[in-house]
Parts: sequence; C-alpha cells; structure tokens
Amino acid sequence: MFPIVLHEELSPGVHRMSVKAPEVARKCGPGQFVIVIIDEKGERIPFTVSGWDTAAKTVDFVYVEVGKSTRQLAGLKPGDNLAHLVGPLGRAAEIDRFGHVVAVASGYGIAAIVPVLDALRAKGNRVTTILQAPDVERIFGRSALERSSDRLILAAGENGPDMTASATFPLRRLLADHRGSPVDRVIVMGSICLMRIISEMTRPYGVRTMVHLTPLMVDGTGMCGACRLSVDGNNRFACVHGPEFDGHKVTGWDVLMARRCTYSDESVLRQGFQCRGCSQW
Ligand SMILES: Cc1cc2nc3c(=O)[nH]c(=O)nc-3n(C[C@H](O)[C@H](O)[C@H](O)COP(=O)(O)OP(=O)(O)OC[C@H]3O[C@@H](n4cnc5c(N)ncnc54)[C@H](O)[C@@H]3O)c2cc1C
Ligand code: FES
Repeated sequence: MFPIVLHEELSPGVHRMSVKAPEVARKCGPGQFVIVIIDEKGERIPFTVSGWDTAAKTVDFVYVEVGKSTRQLAGLKPGDNLAHLVGPLGRAAEIDRFGHVVAVASGYGIAAIVPVLDALRAKGNRVTTILQAPDVERIFGRSALERSSDRLILAAGENGPDMTASATFPLRRLLADHRGSPVDRVIVMGSICLMRIISEMTRPYGVRTMVHLTPLMVDGTGMCGACRLSVDGNNRFACVHGPEFDGHKVTGWDVLMARRCTYSDESVLRQGFQCRGCSQW
C-alpha cells in the first residue's frame, strides 16, 4: 500500500498528490514517470513525477482530471492508500550543458518539467520558460517555474499578462533573436498537439527540440506494445525508449494522436481542452 501524504487542488481540476514510496523516491530522475493503480479493480494510470524527497521518502505528481480514474483519484484524501505505485519508469531526460534552453510547459507539464529545468540549470544552462494556460484563472505552478527558470514568460489567453493566447508567439520571437540570445535547445511538455506544433516550428531553425510523449500505455515496461510510435522510421516504445524524444524525428504524429484519443468519450470531449485528442491543455 502507498499512503497519500498530501493532496491539494492547484487550480480547477488540477491536483497535486504526494505519496509515500521510498524505493521510487530513492531512484527517481527528471522526466521519469510512475504508474498508479488506485485499488484492486483500478486501471493503470501513468503520471510524470514532478518532484521527490528522499528524506521524506515521497514522490509527487500533478494530474488533470479528465476521465474515470483521475476523477476517482480526486476523491481520495491524505491518509488514504493507493494500491500500487510502480516506478520510476522510462528514461530520464537528457541533461547536459546545451547553453540557452527554452522550455514550453502546459497542463500537467507545468509541474512535471520542474525537475528537468532544475537539472538543466545545475549543469550551467540558461533557461527561459514559457508557461501556457488556457486562461489566467487556470495558471498554477508559476512560482515554482520562476524559481527553476532564469526568465518566465506567461502565455495565458487573450487576457493574459503577455496578451498572447499561445506559447508559439513568444517562442517565435525567441527563435528569431539570433544575435541577442540564440536558442540552443527547446524542450516541451504539454498536449501532444502543442509538442507537434512546436517541433514543426523549430525545424527550420535547426534547434533540437525534445518532446515528452504520452501515448496510451498499459504495462509501462515494453511488453505490451500499446505505447509504440514511429521515430526516425523505427518503432519505439515510449515507456522504455522515451518518454523524451527528438520531436524532429517523430514521424507518426497523426497515428499517435489518433491512438491517444481512442478512449476519449463525450465527457472528455465536452471539457473543452485545447487538444481534444489527448485531453490536455
Ligand atoms: C508517460 C505518461 C505520463 C503522463 N503524465 C501525466 C501527468 O503527470 N499528469 C497528468 O494529468 N496526466 C499524465 N498523463 C496522462 C494520464 O495518464 C491520463 O490523463 C490518464 O490516464 C487519464 O485516465 P482517466 O481514466 O482519468 O481518463 P480516461 O477517460 O480513461 O481517458 C481520458 C484520456 O486520457 C488518455 N489516457 C487514458 N488512459 C491512458 C493511459 N493508460 N495512458 C496514457 N493516456 C491515457 C487518453 O487520451 C484518453 O482519451 C501521462 C501519460 C503518459 C503516457
Ligand atoms: S506501455 Fe506496454 S510497451 Fe509501453
């Protein structure tokens, strides 16, 4: 059993959960994920780890309520137990000294990208982060991103402080600023369509762009094939070869998006996520 030690709502429908899981906390790396099973009848739910504490022996993740399992999770309280929490799974994000890294985060990616940014800055990179939210009311995790970035830009709907609805506008300006502060690497965590759009945007600039892909997963250990995707013409399993991939080498975006929304029912589609397919902002 895995006891829940903290559970709070960060913005409407977005929650942070901290769970006691000593072995997972001991081995976690930035960008890795866990699979949670709420009770003995529960399905497997993959979540990217947004933090861990080796002293307290806890791991944190932030999740968006989208369907049956995440709604059930939202009903749990500190002191309740999760039946299973398996991890860390997947490969940690590639961390090296790249120079100026621009990060784009939306949805749960706003929290999940924090350990990646901390590791990049610890290596001496300068990090500019663009936080995208559908509107100002749904911004969360701003102070954590401010702490983990050298500069934070908000893209939060037409009423946002930057008056821009999409991360693509500030990103385009940063990419065009060759002389001032060239961009050496882009990293994106958010909806699949955002990751796709940004990969296409950076391609002409030749700026390596890492995306954190979230296809449907079942076992999370490379055995079932559910999470397969096409990268550079080869079949890859996101759970063992990823979830971080070079966005310019992903060749099967259409298939990936179609498979991801296979189980979207009307209740998911009615919620008006920016990306209806992958039910994330
Ligand atoms: C590696 C990885 C990391 C993820 N990290 C996070 C995270 O940190 N926070 C977060 O909110 N969400 C994350 N997700 C997505 C999350 O797993 C789904 O939102 C969740 O499984 C939805 O379950 P549900 O029963 O509430 O919704 P459902 O009604 O079952 O499904 C709603 C939508 O969620 C997606 N989904 C459903 N089951 C899965 C599955 N097993 N694998 C992947 N997608 C699924 C589908 O797009 C589906 O249309 C991650 C997914 C992957 C693969
Ligand atoms: S989830 Fe089964 S192979 Fe990746």
